Amino acid sequence: MKILVTGAGGFIGSHLTDFFLARGDSVFALDSVPWDARNYLWVHRDNHRLRYFCDSILNEGLMRYLVRETEAVYHLAAAVGLDNVIGQVLKVIEVNVRGTELVLRLAAEQKRRVLFTSTSEIGGKSPKLPFREDDDRVLGPTIVDRWVYSETKALGEYMCFGYHRAGLPVSIVRFFNVYGPRLDREGSGRVITRFLRQALQNQPIAVIGDGKQTRCFTYISDVIQGVVAAGERPAAIGGIFNLGTPVETSINELVEIVCKTVGHRPPVKYVGLDEVYGKGYEDIARRVPDVERARRVLDWVATTPLEIGIWETFRWLSSCTVLPDDDIDG
Ligand SMILES: NC(=O)c1ccc[n+]([C@@H]2O[C@H](COP(=O)([O-])OP(=O)(O)OC[C@H]3O[C@@H](n4cnc5c(N)ncnc54)[C@H](O)[C@@H]3O)[C@@H](O)[C@H]2O)c1
Repeated sequence: MKILVTGAGGFIGSHLTDFFLARGDSVFALDSVPWDARNYLWVHRDNHRLRYFCDSILNEGLMRYLVRETEAVYHLAAAVGLDNVIGQVLKVIEVNVRGTELVLRLAAEQKRRVLFTSTSEIGGKSPKLPFREDDDRVLGPTIVDRWVYSETKALGEYMCFGYHRAGLPVSIVRFFNVYGPRLDREGSGRVITRFLRQALQNQPIAVIGDGKQTRCFTYISDVIQGVVAAGERPAAIGGIFNLGTPVETSINELVEIVCKTVGHRPPVKYVGLDEVYGKGYEDIARRVPDVERARRVLDWVATTPLEIGIWETFRWLSSCTVLPDDDIDG
């Protein structure tokens, strides 16, 4: 197949592109990150089945060409991570809402199948666990920037359903804390790579909050299987699927696993939420997926144990010549 992957230069998009190329597909990869030796897809530079376009999803002329020339669209490009969200609400709305509307509209015009990537943040701070795909959403006030990411992804989902009703074959996946090699481009450290980096450099491991908050860390190779199933199975059209492990790990437990992986124990320091994110920021205590629908329709479950996934992430991070910068993101 000929497949368009937006956000192909990012963490999940580059793994997805690897998967399609390994399967023998051709990929049109679009991302705003430059095409040079630091690009995760640079290893494929001699592969004639990959064409890389360094541009924005907001470039309508280019997007029209890319959608027309391919048979399916995997839409991953987005403003992701708190460092791209806090203080930048207009940019988040532009990329995540306008960009997604353009992708969906062009795909509808050309009758292409679309896979839209959404997030566990959709549920916000809902106390009802586990999160089902059709549960109510509980969000904070609009004066707090952190909720805009959830809102823009929810608008993306609304648009998917709107276009689906008009005939577009589209499916939606919601990711739960995906991790693995390439998790972070320099400067946008998420918790696993941030802890690994701090441990590797023998700096104190900085836990934000009391460390009792839990996350369901889901390994990248599991996620790629789920994304492809949701993007290809006929029964997935028109559906939303949680892609996450239901296994909860507290941030304090994560510190232990990281120390075991790295082989030594730096001191742990606890940092207040306000200190890092500013006043009004609320962390989410628990975020657990209900994975019944993904199991039933996609025949998908996450199987990689956290210790194995962290080991693989550690091996990748150790091989990076420049370690990703320290930053703040869960
Ligand atoms: N990693 C996770 O745990 C997680 C969780 C929930 C949802 N998601 C979603 O999965 C998708 C991929 O996330 P990721 O973790 O790989 O993040 P990432 O930041 O590594 O990848 C996103 C990519 O989109 C690109 N991009 C941003 N704006 C663009 C634009 N205007 N034009 C072209 N490219 C642009 C970025 O350069 C980046 O390479 C995103 O849609 C994200 O919202 C990820």
